Amino acid sequence: MSGEVTPEPIAEQGPEEVAEVLAVAADPVEREAEGSLRPRTIEEFVGQPDLKEHLAIVLQAARERSEPAGHLLLSGPPGLGKTSLAHVVANEMGADMRPTSGPALERAGDLAAILTNLEDGDVLFIDEIHRLPRTVEEVLYPAMEDGQLDLVIGKGPSAHTIRLDLPRFTLVGATTRAGLITGPLRSRFELAERLDYYPPADLARIVRRSARILEVDLDADGADEIARRSRGTPRIANRLLRRVRDFSQVREDGHIDGPIARAALELFKVDDKGLDRTDGAILEALVKRFSGGPVGLSTLAVAVGEEPDTIEDVYEPFLMQLGFIRRTPRGRVATEEAFRHVGVAAPTGAGAARLFGS
Ligand SMILES: Nc1ncnc2c1ncn2[C@@H]1O[C@H](COP(=O)(O)OP(=O)(O)OP(=O)(O)O)[C@@H](O)[C@H]1O
Ligand SMILES: [Mg+2]
Repeated sequence: MSGEVTPEPIAEQGPEEVAEVLAVAADPVEREAEGSLRPRTIEEFVGQPDLKEHLAIVLQAARERSEPAGHLLLSGPPGLGKTSLAHVVANEMGADMRPTSGPALERAGDLAAILTNLEDGDVLFIDEIHRLPRTVEEVLYPAMEDGQLDLVIGKGPSAHTIRLDLPRFTLVGATTRAGLITGPLRSRFELAERLDYYPPADLARIVRRSARILEVDLDADGADEIARRSRGTPRIANRLLRRVRDFSQVREDGHIDGPIARAALELFKVDDKGLDRTDGAILEALVKRFSGGPVGLSTLAVAVGEEPDTIEDVYEPFLMQLGFIRRTPRGRVATEEAFRHVGVAAPTGAGAARLFGS
């Protein structure tokens, strides 16, 4: 913590920075900062009780058999702990983690090189595994299933295949788009788990833990205040903690209680439900421009200037969780809560029946 922060940057927070406060993605600097806050054991990993129970059993069983754990597929919105869990698996198994990602593996040979360089027991982490090219994915099947790699040697009529035995490894795949994982790939995972948004109580535990690591003086009310506005997302909770810490360091004496956290989050224009500007734009468009819907995903995406994928992965799950949006076969529909939030009178009579059902 440097003492060089001056009040001006906080007071001059422009709309650009305000939007970033609640962004689910992390930039490289933040990813670096996240390293120190990552849980290292199942025990340190807060929340997600079902997932943790399943994982604990799989890992203990593997340890008792002195085998690498079965392959694990993790899905869920950004910032909920997929990469952290991959580290936890490696750590709990006393193994090294080898990280790569779907987009980084352009050709079959890229993956073959990684597989043949693994040490016995390593955890191979493939982030964004839904973006693996098909030809690369096919190399993965025999590797996951039989620990074998089929290599094609030579070209043309003289080409032939040789089969290599690979070191034993655990594949941990992560994806924000579980629906895009092909059947053959999915079926080769021993465990497929989905991470859900965290309830405020879990987020409060996460920020309290982070505050201990960062040596920030945070009380329970301050933690609750941050937790409530974190979009159900640990990454955002940790980010808000850092912002509130800066605020307190500059304007107060460095300690964080409820009123200080509230003042800081108001200053940074963090909505009390954790909605960011794009969430707001989606609700406005849905309610005002499309009279509550139904409206198709791509039309909605154009209206708010976002990629349809981003709407579907990042914004829609959270808005659905808050009960602001429903998905229907004909498109996205605003709920009565969404009308209330935007401050537009909800339709009555036939309009209400069409939108809100009976
Ligand atoms: N259950 C948890 N307990 C404690 N901290 C957590 C937990 N889940 C996530 N975090 C913290 O949140 C941050 C983001 O988590 P992580 O990078 O694992 O998310 P991710 O799901 O991999 O996100 P992305 O999809 O963007 O890659 C990390 O700094 C981590 O410390
Ligand atoms: Mg990640």
